[in-house]
Amino acid sequence: MKVPLLDLKKQYKKIRSRVTPEIEKVLESQLFILGRNVEELEKEIAAFCGVPQAIGVASGTDALLLALMALEVQPGDRVITTPFTFFATGGVISRLGALPVFIDIDPVTYNLDLSRLEDYLRENGGRADSPRVVMPVHLYGQMTDMKALMGMAQKHGLRVVEDGAQALGARQKVGSSIRGNKGAQEWSAGAVGDLGCFSFFPTKNLGGFGDGGMVITGDPELARKIRLLRNHGAHTKYAHRMIGINSRLDALQAAVLRVKLNYLERWTEGRRKNADRYRALFREAKLGPPFVSLPREQKGFYHIYNQFVIRAQRRDALREHLLKKEIGSEIYYPIPLHLQECYRFLGYHPGDLPESERAAGEVLALPIYPELTWQQQRQVVRAMVEFYAPRRAPGSPAAPRRAPRFIKEG
Ligand SMILES: Cc1ncc(COP(=O)(O)O)c(C=O)c1O
Repeated sequence: MKVPLLDLKKQYKKIRSRVTPEIEKVLESQLFILGRNVEELEKEIAAFCGVPQAIGVASGTDALLLALMALEVQPGDRVITTPFTFFATGGVISRLGALPVFIDIDPVTYNLDLSRLEDYLRENGGRADSPRVVMPVHLYGQMTDMKALMGMAQKHGLRVVEDGAQALGARQKVGSSIRGNKGAQEWSAGAVGDLGCFSFFPTKNLGGFGDGGMVITGDPELARKIRLLRNHGAHTKYAHRMIGINSRLDALQAAVLRVKLNYLERWTEGRRKNADRYRALFREAKLGPPFVSLPREQKGFYHIYNQFVIRAQRRDALREHLLKKEIGSEIYYPIPLHLQECYRFLGYHPGDLPESERAAGEVLALPIYPELTWQQQRQVVRAMVEFYAPRRAPGSPAAPRRAPRFIKEG
């Protein structure tokens, strides 16, 4: 039995009867750019995240770019972010002629290390060239500690753009309210900073049939600006108030995403259940450190498992072994941004951001999609036991044979 990293065909089979008529309606209308479906999706995503405003755009990358444009990031400005992310996070900063400042990650959450961020701000705050914006990335589907980060941002006068591309639906428990989340006991990813950005790339928990993205905000002025900027800055046809770009979400994507949004929470619960199953299977197989470390969910954080990422000894050889067994896996991300060729001019060197560099050499994403079966997960763990068994103490490897009692088969 093959175990792909992601099986979107299985998902499509389940939703086909609901999604096809919606696509046909758009085809019949022959209205493809913005329009009713986009407006409705914007309202639905805003409600889902608990913010007043959401603006549909052409991709997650554009969502980030437009967020920085709305904050009027200028050439030469410094923007703080993590080097352990998809390239888009850094790329949009550079697209505007601004300079990314990379702060190392926390080795457990893979998100910005906030104590390092605090040190950086203490040492560099108050200067003429000190950063204006910080972009936390909620990597793999777990939020950065936004309560702590917002405290720092407010103290140092930083605007905050959340890269929530992988984290739609992730949450953090808190006791007090902030901005869009008035009175909330939980903050949603994207809804805490000045602006939050999402991607509807097909592999995301809410993925379109192509590219798409969304910016959310509690600030009506920023929302107004993003609406202009995504449409060449035009306030009415051929009258341009600002210099924007063409980044409109199209009606077909919005129609698909509106159908899929009905399933999102169920799918996320499916991913979370699969994460628990892996934990039980690895425990049963007695496969753990130093060979394999499983992702840890932080207390008070609702992880949506866009990816289930382990750290693995001899990661690349393990990946080869899994491939031979027809098990898909992926490395997110093998080269941190500060060591990318295109960022040589920033002057970073190997060893500068050691946690990101170590993670780049050890992380491996395993299949976690909601339709994954218990048997497939058992196959993944068995293959891994097989790989590590010869190196373990005699008698210790134990390939899982049956479902632990609390796990339902199927
Ligand atoms: C962390 C992160 N930021 C930004 C993006 C960019 O999103 P998109 O691919 O929709 O442009 C992605 C998506 O791959 C991502 O994972």
